[in-house]
Amino acid sequence: MHVRRFQDDDAPELVELYKRSVRSIGPKDYSTRQIEAWLSLAPSLEAMRARCTDGRAVLLAVGNNGRPLAFGDIETDGHIGYFYCAPEHAGSGVALEVYNSLERHALGAGLSRMYVAASEAARRFFLRRGFHVLARRDLRIDGVPIHNFSMEKQL
Ligand SMILES: CC(C)(COP(=O)(O)OP(=O)(O)OC[C@H]1O[C@@H](n2cnc3c(N)ncnc32)[C@H](O)[C@@H]1OP(=O)(O)O)[C@@H](O)C(=O)NCCC(=O)NCCS
Repeated sequence: MHVRRFQDDDAPELVELYKRSVRSIGPKDYSTRQIEAWLSLAPSLEAMRARCTDGRAVLLAVGNNGRPLAFGDIETDGHIGYFYCAPEHAGSGVALEVYNSLERHALGAGLSRMYVAASEAARRFFLRRGFHVLARRDLRIDGVPIHNFSMEKQL
C-alpha cells in the first residue's frame, strides 16, 4: 500500500468507494433514511472529476493492485472535504495513512489549521488525531434530519 495523488482515471472508483463506504460504514451511526439522504449527495463522475482537479490536494491509499482503498482531500485553506475508507479495509490503518499524508501536505503548505465537518465515524477518528469539536451541526438533507460535527486541529 502507498499513498499517491489523484489521477484522472481514478474518478469512477472514487465515486464507487464513496458510496460503498457510506452504505456499509454509515449505518453504524445513522438511520436508513439518513444513509439514503447522505447517498443523495454522492457526486456524479463529472462532479468528482471536477472536484479532484480544482486545485485541492486529493490523496489516495492504493493497494498493490493499484486500486484505491481510502481517499481524502484538503483545500488550500485547510478544509478536509471528502474522507472515505473502503469498508473491507476499515480499521486497518489505510485511512490513517491518507490522513497522515493530508497533514504532511498541510504542514508543507504552511497551514496553521485543518478543519472538517465530520460524520460520527470521522469524529471518532479525528478526535484520536488531535482534533477537537467546535460544534454539533444539525442539518436537513431533502427534509431528513442528520448531523455532523465541526472540528478543527491547530498545526
Ligand atoms: C472516517 C473513516 C474514513 C475512518 O476510517 P478508519 O477505518 O477508522 O481508518 P483506518 O482504516 O485508518 O483505521 C484506523 C485505525 O486502525 C488502526 N490500525 C490497525 N492496523 C493498523 C496498521 N497496520 N497500521 C496503522 N494503523 C492500524 C489504527 O491504529 C487506527 O486506530 P485508532 O483510530 O483507534 O487509533 C471511515 O470510518 C469511513 O470511511 N466512514 C464512512 C464515511 C465517512 O463517515 N466519512 C467521513 C466524512 S466526514
